[in-house]
Amino acid sequence: MILVTGGAGYIGSHLVKLLLKKGKEVVIFDSLETGHTETVEILKKYGKLKFVQGNLKNLDEIRGAFLVNKIDAVVHFAAFSQVAESVSNPQKYYYNNIYGTLNLLNAMLEFDVKKMVFSSTAAVYGEPEYIPIDENHPQNPINPYGNTKLMIERILKDYDKAYGFKSVSLRYFNAVGADSDAEIGEWHEPETHLIPNILNADSEKTFKMFGTDYDTKDGTCVRDYINVEDLALAHIRALEYLNNGGQTDCFNLGTSEGNSVKEVFNICEKVKGVTIPLEVFPARAGDPAVLLAENKKAKRILNWQPEKDLEYSVKTAYNYTISNKH
Ligand SMILES: NC(=O)c1ccc[n+]([C@@H]2O[C@H](COP(=O)([O-])OP(=O)(O)OC[C@H]3O[C@@H](n4cnc5c(N)ncnc54)[C@H](O)[C@@H]3O)[C@@H](O)[C@H]2O)c1
Repeated sequence: MILVTGGAGYIGSHLVKLLLKKGKEVVIFDSLETGHTETVEILKKYGKLKFVQGNLKNLDEIRGAFLVNKIDAVVHFAAFSQVAESVSNPQKYYYNNIYGTLNLLNAMLEFDVKKMVFSSTAAVYGEPEYIPIDENHPQNPINPYGNTKLMIERILKDYDKAYGFKSVSLRYFNAVGADSDAEIGEWHEPETHLIPNILNADSEKTFKMFGTDYDTKDGTCVRDYINVEDLALAHIRALEYLNNGGQTDCFNLGTSEGNSVKEVFNICEKVKGVTIPLEVFPARAGDPAVLLAENKKAKRILNWQPEKDLEYSVKTAYNYTISNKH
C-alpha cells in the first residue's frame, strides 16, 4: 500500500488516480487545508483508496495512518507552496513543511518504512547561474519556501547515511494542465499559477502580465511548463527505481523547452477562442528572465520523459475549468 501525503491536492491527486488505475492500493493523508474533499470523492471510483484526514504537524495523526495500514512506500506532496506567502509568513512554512516532514519521517522510521518520493522544486536552485539548470547547479534558494524544500532534501540524505532511508527528490519546474478526463485539475485558492489565471481572466479581472523587457525572445519571462500527468508518471518511475534498489538521488522534472509568458497567453487565447483582457506591468523583483530544466538525468536513470506539449496542457486545463465551476 502506498501512502500519498497531500493526495487531495493538485499534483498528488493525479498520481493517486494513476496508481489506482494501475491496481495499487493507496492511502491519502491530507489536512484538506489546500486540498479538496470533492477530489477525494472522484478518486474513490478508481480503486482501493482510503482517505485519512489528518495533519502532519500532529505526530499521533500520521502515526495512526501507519498503525492501521500496511504501508510499503510514501509519496510526500503535502506542503504549503506559495512563494510570496512564505516571504511574509515564514513561520507558517517552516513549521508546516519541515516540522510536518520530520513527524512523517518519525512515523516512517518507527514502522520501518524506508522509501520515499519527495516533491521538491526548481526553487531549490534560486537565481540561475547557467541555463538549462542541471541537478549539480548550486542551490541557493531565494525565499523561505525554497529553503524548506532544500532543507528537507538535506534531511533525507542524512537519514539515508544514518538509517538506510532511500528517497528520490523530484524537482518540479512549473506544473500545468489537468487530467485528460477533466475530473481533477488545478484548484488553488488564491490561484497564483499562470495558466488558470490567464484562462479565468475576464473584463472585471484582467490578466496581469509582469515584465515585457526581459532579455528573451519576446521580452517576457521564459519558464519550463511540465504537464501534470507526465509528472504523475515520473513518480511511478521513481517508486519503481526505489523498489529496484535505487539509491537516494534527485531529478529535475521539466521539458527542457521554454515558453514565454506571451506564448502561453497566445495558446490560452487560441484554446479559449476569445480575446483575453490583458494589462502589462513592470517586471517584479525576484523573477529571473529564464528558468529551464536540464532533464537528461531523469530520462537516463528513471526512464522518464515528458510526452504532452503545452497546448495539450492548456486544453486540459481549460476543459477542467469549464466542467468544474467551483
Ligand atoms: N504546483 C507546482 O507547480 C509545483 C512546483 C514545484 C513543487 N511543487 C510541490 O508539489 C507539491 C504539491 O503541490 P500542489 O500544487 O499539488 O499543491 P496543493 O496545495 O494543491 O497540494 C498540497 C496538499 O497538501 C496538503 N497539506 C499541506 N500541508 C499539510 C499538512 N501539514 N498535513 C497534511 N496535508 C497537508 C494540502 O491540503 C493539499 O491537499 C508541494 O509539495 C509543492 O511544494 C509544486
